[in-house]
Amino acid sequence: MPTANTKIGICGASGRMGRALIHAVVAREDVKLTAAIEREGNTLIGADAGEMAALPHMDISINSSLASQIDLVDVVIDFTTPAATIANVALCRQEGKGIVIGTTGLSEEQKHFLIEASHDIPIVYSGNFSVGVNVSLKLLELAAKAFGDTVDVDVLEAHHRYKVDAPSGTALMMGEAVASALGRDLKQVACFARSGHTGVRDRETIGFQTIRGGDIVGDHTVYFMGEGERVEIRHVATSRMNFANGAVRAAAWIGTKSAGLYDMRDVLGLK
Ligand SMILES: NC(=O)c1ccc[n+]([C@@H]2O[C@H](COP(=O)([O-])OP(=O)(O)OC[C@H]3O[C@@H](n4cnc5c(N)ncnc54)[C@H](OP(=O)(O)O)[C@@H]3O)[C@@H](O)[C@H]2O)c1
Repeated sequence: MPTANTKIGICGASGRMGRALIHAVVAREDVKLTAAIEREGNTLIGADAGEMAALPHMDISINSSLASQIDLVDVVIDFTTPAATIANVALCRQEGKGIVIGTTGLSEEQKHFLIEASHDIPIVYSGNFSVGVNVSLKLLELAAKAFGDTVDVDVLEAHHRYKVDAPSGTALMMGEAVASALGRDLKQVACFARSGHTGVRDRETIGFQTIRGGDIVGDHTVYFMGEGERVEIRHVATSRMNFANGAVRAAAWIGTKSAGLYDMRDVLGLK
């Protein structure tokens, strides 16, 4: 059961996800927003978090220092940048607060930092907080195990023109789900580009194709391509609210957990 009235601080509050997260917090009765944090120098510092998100006044000013607000929160939700996320994790570790992390594009070293911090605090880290994507990951495992080495697998993803990392964290999670079900190491078999004389496709590889443009929220399709048939497992996000609702659900869940590194499949009981 979620902790009643879990106090939430949102880092990256005025970002695309930050605004959706404020709506998602307001929509649930078991959590409440107590802090909204933005990058120092952001023009919305000092603005009311509710009004900034096109909601009624909340009497919560957007602040540039998580450290100054940390006593007001039980759980931090962070959708910012890798460097900001790492600084926020260090602070949460020091202060004994749980953190839900949606920021993508973390380096291997930064992921290792999360593992270390999770010895002391609960962390939910997921490249995708959507319930539908996490159900899709389960379906991918099932399909990969059934097809085994009889098919070629590629992942196609499409996002809006402002997304700065590729392939998406979700595409990598999907590739990882397939690779691990097939007993392959994604680092060894991932193919991120095909151009020129590529030669015949190597069945061991898992290909990633990226589209960037317009206002696409997030499309992912995994192709299992065999002799005489093809299965496509597809997830389409139509608004950011699916990620925001999942992240806030994770924040309510983490309030009951001890130290450890969790992902959305733990939150949904899909493991
Ligand atoms: N896991 C998931 O389900 C999921 C879903 C969607 C997005 N994401 C990821 O979440 C991240 C944010 O995405 P977005 O679309 O919301 O990006 P965005 O609109 O650029 O928002 C990021 C926000 O973080 C702020 N920020 C940067 N450094 C900060 C700091 N040190 N302290 C506090 N705030 C800081 C930015 O402020 P400035 O504008 O002033 O720099 C901006 O408002 C990306 O990594 C994205 O890939 C994950």
